[in-house]
Amino acid sequence: MPGPYIIGNWKMHGTRAQAVALVEAVAKHVDRRKSPKVVICPPFTLLAQVLEGLEGPLRLGAQDCHAAGEGAFTGDISAAMLKDAGCDYVIVGHSERRAGHGEGNDLVRAKAAAALDVGLTPIICVGETLEQRQSGQADAVVSAQLAGSLPKGAKASQFLLAYEPVWAIGSGLAATASDIAEMHAQIGMIVPGCRVLYGGSVKPENAAEILALPGVDGVLVGGASLKAEQFCAIIDAAR
Ligand code: PGA
Repeated sequence: MPGPYIIGNWKMHGTRAQAVALVEAVAKHVDRRKSPKVVICPPFTLLAQVLEGLEGPLRLGAQDCHAAGEGAFTGDISAAMLKDAGCDYVIVGHSERRAGHGEGNDLVRAKAAAALDVGLTPIICVGETLEQRQSGQADAVVSAQLAGSLPKGAKASQFLLAYEPVWAIGSGLAATASDIAEMHAQIGMIVPGCRVLYGGSVKPENAAEILALPGVDGVLVGGASLKAEQFCAIIDAAR
């Protein structure tokens, strides 16, 4: 099974100049033979700059796509456009899209299916809120998201899953090793053979421990992917 995956989600950050500098620093750092799979997901405006700078095992991803192939959808970007722009991956169902844009499981599944149709690997995100965890619903919420968000008929080898507890994202407080291992084990039972990444406050200080956990096939990194030194240290933790 390939991996681990180290995926950087830049979210809504970066100028062209910053993107060029960041990808150059990461490209210089990765070792063509020994590096894990490293995917950079910049905002749409920076896909071209990042693509230019890719080397060795570095790959390009996007942060979202529309479910339709093309059409009158002002402001949206299709999976086919992302493929044409050089992407191999696309994140779908990130909690910031689910919460901030009202995206439900059906839409996430349609987006993942659209990505598969054009040969992109969707990175399908699931995860519970703090309230859901505290009221003992974390397992049920993640199971329901999996049941609703995975494209019908897709093989587990065609997509990546990312378990991202909402309360751990951007909070500086990652989930505990046992919470991560337990949820990844549950996801592994529901979707056998699938590669499951963890996301939520991954940083150089906790990356090695998280990557060594059973059932963790990589990490999805937000804030720390914007700083070359920190992202490179996380890549090193995967070797
Ligand atoms: P974070 O974000 O690393 O800044 O917590 C992770 C994510 O949202 O993918």
